[in-house]
Amino acid sequence: ALARQIDRPIVLVGMMGVGKSSVGKRLASILDCPFVDADDEIERSAQMRIPEIFETYGEDYFRDGERRVIARLMAENEGCIVIATGGGAFVNAQTRALILEKAVTIWLDSDVDTLVERTARKDNRPLLQNGDPREILTRLRETRQPFYAQAPIHIVSGQGPHVQTINKVLQELT
Ligand code: S3P
Repeated sequence: ALARQIDRPIVLVGMMGVGKSSVGKRLASILDCPFVDADDEIERSAQMRIPEIFETYGEDYFRDGERRVIARLMAENEGCIVIATGGGAFVNAQTRALILEKAVTIWLDSDVDTLVERTARKDNRPLLQNGDPREILTRLRETRQPFYAQAPIHIVSGQGPHVQTINKVLQELT
């Protein structure tokens, strides 16, 4: 019943490690909508891992592909779909405009400690590879804040279980 009320894609934006994929997956299953992780989809269409794309072609090329993939996902699924985007997607002006136009956009936000803890579990993030992750995350979080803040829905995700965050999202959607 819930899914029928949602006739636009739901797009999750926010920093690396905030939990866009975990929250998105569970949100999608509650709403009975498909879930897609844009990073996974980029890797599938490029047949390359993200660090490899950054290394071989650079970040600008990655951002271009990212925009095309997100545009395609939203166009192919006019009804209900939950899309988790990579942390930089919404910072790109064109990608941001596209998402804001077509989707219900949700900014997931959390403090730097949480981001540091959650990003430490995987080493597939090229932007954290050349320096101290805490410093990089602090700086990126600050510079990206004004962009993320353009999302109409702002959800703070604490260190606790994702179920709390999901409940907050559901409250916003219904
Ligand atoms: C990036 C975040 C990553 C991935 C790429 C760049 C960023 O996605 O798209 O490494 O610029 O913040 P996650 O937010 O899923 O880690």
